[in-house]
Amino acid sequence: MPVSIRQIGPCFAGEVEGIDMTRPLSPDEVAAIHAGMDRYAVLVFHDQRIDDEQQLAFTRSLGDIEHAIGTSLRGPDEYRLPTTFADVSNLDQHNKTFARDDRRRLFAIGNRLWHSDSSFKPTPAKYSLLHACSIPSKGGNTEYADMRAAYDALDAETKAEVEGLVCEHSQLFSRQQLGFTDFTEEERERFRPVRQCLVRTHPVTGRKSLYLSSHAGAIVDWPVPEARAFLRDLVEHATQRQFVHAHTWRVHDLVMWDNRQTMHRARPFPAHEPRDMRRTTLAGDGPTVAQAV
Ligand SMILES: [Fe+2]
Repeated sequence: MPVSIRQIGPCFAGEVEGIDMTRPLSPDEVAAIHAGMDRYAVLVFHDQRIDDEQQLAFTRSLGDIEHAIGTSLRGPDEYRLPTTFADVSNLDQHNKTFARDDRRRLFAIGNRLWHSDSSFKPTPAKYSLLHACSIPSKGGNTEYADMRAAYDALDAETKAEVEGLVCEHSQLFSRQQLGFTDFTEEERERFRPVRQCLVRTHPVTGRKSLYLSSHAGAIVDWPVPEARAFLRDLVEHATQRQFVHAHTWRVHDLVMWDNRQTMHRARPFPAHEPRDMRRTTLAGDGPTVAQAV
């Protein structure tokens, strides 16, 4: 069955048919998926009854895996999944839901703010692939915002202003917005800011996009309050409903998105219900800008 993609979002996002992730991909299927990502930036695959090994094999057929090491507040002996996965569930290593006031859960609530995965790493993520193993009875949608359309819709003055700007990104900044500030010295060091371009150009299509994220908390050479107000205005612009596609999860959906061209956020759901979502991530090509010495 040939691969077909149908647009489902207002200006982006496609629904894919003709891919079975339990089997190896052909070169034509790999090419169709990459071409689909270049065009739609978010691809939805339904009814993928895959285990972790099959998700890893599918991910590796598209590129190199980014490991999730030291990016959450899970201790070394508290991992539920290997580091080839980012565990974005609300479950501890014994598959029990976190207590409402568990520090690991409160840190993960940062995912409800608009962000781009791993924008806090010197080489940020390319694609994220999220597989729904179990979902709550209500809520828990993931929303996506098209940062190419958001860039295109800026006025000429703002396009000139954002060009060449460099932001500092850290999970300290995103959590600070939610009042989560009780980090240890080790965590502050581990989460120290990295630099990212504010405008990115897609290497294949040449389209420009705003590279925003709640992790962005400063602009190099700008006063902090002015930078944060400016970034807040840009996020408000970029997440207007005409740029947003909301995904309502079904078990065994796999959604893949391009972190270079989109932002996303998780929506709330009942705290005591398991939401077992497993993310594999494709590594980016390199830093978007030179890091500070
Ligand atoms: Fe995310």
